[in-house]
Amino acid sequence: MYAQMVKTDAARIKGLDEMDPQERVFQQRIDTGQKIEPKEWMPEAYRKTLIRQISQHAHSEIVGQLPEGNWITRAPTLERKAILLAKVQDEAGHGLYLYCAAETLGISRDQMYEQLHSGKAKYSSIFNYPTLSWADIGAIGWLVDGAAIMNQVPLQRCSYGPYARAMVRICKEESFHQRQGFDILAKMVRGTPAQKEMVQDALDRWWWPSLMMFGPSDDASVHSAQSMAWKIKQNSNDELRQKFVDQTVPQAEYLGLTVPDPDLKWNEEKGGYDFGEPDWSEFFEVIAGNGPCNAERLGARRKAWGDGTWFRDGLTAHAEKVAARRAKSVAAE
Ligand SMILES: [Fe+2]
Ligand SMILES: [Fe+2]
Repeated sequence: MYAQMVKTDAARIKGLDEMDPQERVFQQRIDTGQKIEPKEWMPEAYRKTLIRQISQHAHSEIVGQLPEGNWITRAPTLERKAILLAKVQDEAGHGLYLYCAAETLGISRDQMYEQLHSGKAKYSSIFNYPTLSWADIGAIGWLVDGAAIMNQVPLQRCSYGPYARAMVRICKEESFHQRQGFDILAKMVRGTPAQKEMVQDALDRWWWPSLMMFGPSDDASVHSAQSMAWKIKQNSNDELRQKFVDQTVPQAEYLGLTVPDPDLKWNEEKGGYDFGEPDWSEFFEVIAGNGPCNAERLGARRKAWGDGTWFRDGLTAHAEKVAARRAKSVAAE
């Protein structure tokens, strides 16, 4: 499937011989595995693609704190609370590294926030689902951070230096996140029947949205093929989804859970699972802003931005006063 995709789309992507000399050197550097750094020449479309992808990624980290933050005050033990706090703080850190990486491409933090708050920029659709029980916190760590790792590990080899380097630390932290989620569930399935039922219910609700995190099948996408040629993207959405299913199903079995997919079946020939198609109409509805929590999530981000206005104004006023004092003392010398 992957080879076919590259072949189909290759015809629509510029060949080296069609490029001007500057672009050819750029592409050859990428082809030989060199990293592109902020001050270096890059095609405008490469810059724009990266700004969109990195800022979307940053927004997802920040908005992703909300469904889990919802459970910090209700974590069942002090230890679970401390772990969840650390996890949610990590996500804030991921957002900050990624905003910094995007800023190196010439967009400001304020512009990115503006795009998020106006609804122009997207973030991962998964964070528009509610967290109804403590088991959801386990399911998010296990499945959502698990899917994020699948997506992010190849990004460590992305052609853009600052993005690739940010991913190294992020991936290390994501693997802790996934384990903490799995650990919550492993404990709960050994608990009372009601607790085990909560875990199954969480899996039933989070399974399909997690598979949607890889995006629709990208067999026919020129966009994806171009990102692959630029080594911004290294695997197709379907490839990553398959890897995720193959990794996760045995873990579900270990927990004694049933994956809510009647079409799920081991396929000896391909050495992986066959599985059903997610409901893409639901995915596009959520992306379009009509998921269960879109309004709540954006509302929380806009409120946080509004609540911080006095502080930003204060910092600006202070900076202006300091600059004016400095200018005055220089003039007096
Ligand atoms: Fe993260
Ligand atoms: Fe995470």
